[in-house]
Amino acid sequence: MSFLVDNPDVVRTLFTRDQIADKVQEIGAQVTADYAGQDLLVICVLRGAATFMADLVRAIDLPVEMDYMCVSSYGNGVASSGVVRIVKDLDCDIRGRHVLIAEDVIDSGLTLKYLIRNLESRSPASVEVAALLHKHREGAVESKYVGFTCPDEFVVGYGLDYAEKYRNLPYIGVLDPKVYEH
Ligand code: PRP
Repeated sequence: MSFLVDNPDVVRTLFTRDQIADKVQEIGAQVTADYAGQDLLVICVLRGAATFMADLVRAIDLPVEMDYMCVSSYGNGVASSGVVRIVKDLDCDIRGRHVLIAEDVIDSGLTLKYLIRNLESRSPASVEVAALLHKHREGAVESKYVGFTCPDEFVVGYGLDYAEKYRNLPYIGVLDPKVYEH
Protein backbone atom coordinates (compact mmCIF):
# COMPACT_ATOMS: atom_id res chain seq x y z
CA MET A 1 0.00 0.00 0.00
CA SER A 2 1.21 3.48 -0.84
CA PHE A 3 0.00 6.84 0.46
CA LEU A 4 0.13 8.32 -3.03
CA VAL A 5 -1.03 5.50 -5.27
CA ASP A 6 -3.76 3.51 -3.52
CA ASN A 7 -4.55 5.62 -0.49
CA PRO A 8 -7.11 3.71 1.60
CA ASP A 9 -8.80 6.95 2.73
CA VAL A 10 -9.80 7.82 -0.84
CA VAL A 11 -12.94 5.92 -1.82
CA ARG A 12 -13.09 7.05 -5.45
CA THR A 13 -10.77 8.80 -7.88
CA LEU A 14 -12.57 11.69 -9.58
CA PHE A 15 -9.81 13.10 -11.78
CA THR A 16 -6.59 11.29 -12.55
CA ARG A 17 -3.16 12.83 -12.74
CA ASP A 18 -3.30 12.70 -16.58
CA GLN A 19 -6.78 14.21 -16.78
CA ILE A 20 -5.69 17.06 -14.55
CA ALA A 21 -2.51 17.63 -16.56
CA ASP A 22 -4.49 17.80 -19.82
CA LYS A 23 -7.02 20.18 -18.33
CA VAL A 24 -4.36 22.50 -16.94
CA GLN A 25 -2.68 22.62 -20.38
CA GLU A 26 -6.05 23.51 -21.91
CA ILE A 27 -6.64 26.34 -19.46
CA GLY A 28 -3.07 27.55 -19.95
CA ALA A 29 -3.58 27.70 -23.71
CA GLN A 30 -6.79 29.71 -23.31
CA VAL A 31 -5.09 32.15 -20.94
CA THR A 32 -2.14 32.46 -23.34
CA ALA A 33 -4.49 33.38 -26.19
CA ASP A 34 -6.58 35.78 -24.11
CA TYR A 35 -3.72 37.72 -22.49
CA ALA A 36 -1.22 37.88 -25.36
CA GLY A 37 0.58 41.22 -25.27
CA GLN A 38 -0.81 42.13 -21.84
CA ASP A 39 0.77 42.50 -18.45
CA LEU A 40 -0.57 39.48 -16.54
CA LEU A 41 -0.29 38.90 -12.83
CA VAL A 42 -1.43 35.48 -11.58
CA ILE A 43 -2.45 35.40 -7.94
CA CYS A 44 -2.34 32.15 -6.06
CA VAL A 45 -4.86 31.69 -3.26
CA LEU A 46 -2.87 29.78 -0.70
CA ARG A 47 -2.78 27.15 0.31
CA GLY A 48 -5.05 24.90 -1.73
CA ALA A 49 -4.27 26.48 -5.12
CA ALA A 50 -0.49 26.20 -4.84
CA THR A 51 -0.30 22.96 -6.81
CA PHE A 52 -2.67 24.17 -9.53
CA MET A 53 -0.87 27.53 -9.75
CA ALA A 54 2.55 25.87 -10.12
CA ASP A 55 1.32 23.80 -13.06
CA LEU A 56 -0.86 26.52 -14.59
CA VAL A 57 1.86 29.17 -14.89
CA ARG A 58 4.06 26.62 -16.66
CA ALA A 59 1.25 26.13 -19.19
CA ILE A 60 0.91 29.87 -19.90
CA ASP A 61 3.25 30.81 -22.73
CA LEU A 62 3.61 34.44 -21.66
CA PRO A 63 5.91 36.36 -19.30
CA VAL A 64 3.57 36.23 -16.28
CA GLU A 65 4.27 37.53 -12.80
CA MET A 66 3.05 35.75 -9.69
CA ASP A 67 1.98 36.82 -6.25
CA TYR A 68 0.43 35.00 -3.32
CA MET A 69 -2.42 35.66 -0.98
CA CYS A 70 -3.51 33.46 1.88
CA VAL A 71 -7.12 33.50 2.93
CA SER A 72 -8.90 31.13 5.21
CA SER A 73 -12.54 30.14 5.32
CA TYR A 74 -12.67 26.56 6.49
CA GLY A 75 -10.40 26.00 9.46
CA ASN A 76 -9.93 22.28 9.88
CA GLY A 77 -13.56 21.22 9.44
CA VAL A 78 -15.44 20.08 6.35
CA ALA A 79 -18.06 22.85 6.16
CA SER A 80 -17.46 26.50 5.35
CA SER A 81 -17.47 28.76 8.36
CA GLY A 82 -18.70 31.60 6.16
CA VAL A 83 -15.91 33.74 7.52
CA VAL A 84 -13.12 34.75 5.16
CA ARG A 85 -10.03 36.37 6.54
CA ILE A 86 -6.79 37.50 4.93
CA VAL A 87 -3.93 35.59 6.51
CA LYS A 88 -1.32 36.96 4.09
CA ASP A 89 -1.87 39.84 1.67
CA LEU A 90 -0.24 40.42 -1.73
CA ASP A 91 3.24 41.89 -1.84
CA CYS A 92 2.65 43.87 -5.03
CA ASP A 93 0.43 46.75 -6.08
CA ILE A 94 -2.17 45.57 -8.62
CA ARG A 95 -3.34 49.02 -9.76
CA GLY A 96 -3.78 49.03 -13.55
CA ARG A 97 -2.77 45.38 -13.92
CA HIS A 98 -4.58 42.40 -15.37
CA VAL A 99 -5.11 39.98 -12.51
CA LEU A 100 -5.94 36.30 -12.80
CA ILE A 101 -6.85 34.56 -9.56
CA ALA A 102 -5.88 30.87 -9.47
CA GLU A 103 -8.18 28.85 -7.20
CA ASP A 104 -8.33 25.12 -6.60
CA VAL A 105 -12.06 24.92 -5.89
CA ILE A 106 -15.13 27.13 -5.85
CA ASP A 107 -17.49 25.62 -3.31
CA SER A 108 -19.89 28.10 -1.68
CA GLY A 109 -18.11 30.89 -3.56
CA LEU A 110 -17.66 32.91 -0.38
CA THR A 111 -13.90 33.01 -0.65
CA LEU A 112 -13.89 34.29 -4.21
CA LYS A 113 -16.70 36.76 -3.69
CA TYR A 114 -14.73 38.30 -0.91
CA LEU A 115 -11.46 38.19 -2.85
CA ILE A 116 -12.84 39.68 -6.05
CA ARG A 117 -14.45 42.56 -4.15
CA ASN A 118 -11.27 43.11 -2.21
CA LEU A 119 -9.02 43.09 -5.29
CA GLU A 120 -11.37 45.25 -7.37
CA SER A 121 -11.17 47.94 -4.71
CA ARG A 122 -7.45 48.23 -5.54
CA SER A 123 -8.19 49.47 -9.12
CA PRO A 124 -6.72 46.69 -11.27
CA ALA A 125 -7.26 46.77 -15.07
CA SER A 126 -9.22 43.51 -14.77
CA VAL A 127 -9.87 40.60 -12.42
CA GLU A 128 -10.66 37.12 -13.71
CA VAL A 129 -10.65 33.68 -12.12
CA ALA A 130 -9.19 30.33 -13.13
CA ALA A 131 -10.63 27.56 -10.95
CA LEU A 132 -9.67 23.94 -11.35
CA LEU A 133 -12.88 22.69 -9.73
CA HIS A 134 -16.32 24.24 -9.51
CA LYS A 135 -19.12 22.72 -7.46
CA HIS A 136 -21.74 24.95 -9.13
CA ARG A 137 -23.69 25.68 -6.01
CA GLU A 138 -26.49 28.17 -6.22
CA GLY A 139 -25.24 31.72 -5.80
CA ALA A 140 -21.59 30.78 -6.23
CA VAL A 141 -19.48 33.06 -8.41
CA GLU A 142 -18.73 32.16 -12.00
CA SER A 143 -15.19 31.72 -13.14
CA LYS A 144 -13.88 32.60 -16.62
CA TYR A 145 -11.70 29.50 -16.73
CA VAL A 146 -12.98 26.29 -15.15
CA GLY A 147 -11.33 22.90 -15.18
CA PHE A 148 -13.91 20.39 -13.99
CA THR A 149 -17.38 20.41 -12.52
CA CYS A 150 -17.03 18.72 -9.18
CA PRO A 151 -19.71 16.70 -7.39
CA ASP A 152 -20.77 18.01 -4.01
CA GLU A 153 -18.57 15.63 -2.05
CA PHE A 154 -15.53 16.13 0.13
CA VAL A 155 -12.61 15.95 -2.28
CA VAL A 156 -8.89 15.87 -1.58
CA GLY A 157 -5.66 15.79 -3.54
CA TYR A 158 -3.79 18.03 -5.99
CA GLY A 159 -3.61 20.76 -3.33
CA LEU A 160 -6.92 20.08 -1.61
CA ASP A 161 -6.70 18.95 1.99
CA TYR A 162 -8.54 17.54 4.90
CA ALA A 163 -6.94 18.82 8.12
CA GLU A 164 -3.83 19.76 6.07
CA LYS A 165 -3.34 16.22 4.77
CA TYR A 166 -3.73 14.69 1.28
CA ARG A 167 -2.58 17.86 -0.53
CA ASN A 168 0.26 15.90 -2.13
CA LEU A 169 -1.92 13.27 -3.78
CA PRO A 170 -1.30 13.67 -7.53
CA TYR A 171 -4.97 13.01 -8.35
CA ILE A 172 -8.29 14.27 -6.95
CA GLY A 173 -10.54 11.85 -5.12
CA VAL A 174 -13.42 11.56 -2.71
CA LEU A 175 -12.39 11.25 0.92
CA ASP A 176 -13.89 8.40 2.92
CA PRO A 177 -16.43 10.03 5.29
CA LYS A 178 -15.04 7.76 8.04
CA VAL A 179 -12.01 10.03 8.11
CA TYR A 180 -14.00 13.08 9.21
CA GLU A 181 -17.08 11.55 10.85
CA HIS A 182 -16.55 10.63 14.45
C1 PRP B 1 -10.69 26.20 0.24
C2 PRP B 1 -10.31 26.41 -1.22
C3 PRP B 1 -10.94 27.72 -1.58
C4 PRP B 1 -12.15 27.77 -0.68
C5 PRP B 1 -13.39 27.48 -1.48
O1 PRP B 1 -9.78 26.90 1.01
O2 PRP B 1 -8.91 26.43 -1.39
O3 PRP B 1 -10.09 28.81 -1.30
O4 PRP B 1 -11.98 26.76 0.33
O5 PRP B 1 -14.53 27.42 -0.69
P1 PRP B 1 -15.74 28.45 -0.81
O6 PRP B 1 -16.06 28.61 -2.28
O7 PRP B 1 -16.84 27.74 -0.06
O8 PRP B 1 -15.36 29.73 -0.18
P2 PRP B 1 -9.54 26.63 2.56
O9 PRP B 1 -10.13 27.76 3.34
O10 PRP B 1 -9.94 25.23 2.88
O11 PRP B 1 -7.97 26.78 2.75
P3 PRP B 1 -6.77 26.12 1.96
O12 PRP B 1 -6.71 26.79 0.60
O13 PRP B 1 -5.59 26.45 2.81
O14 PRP B 1 -7.01 24.62 1.86
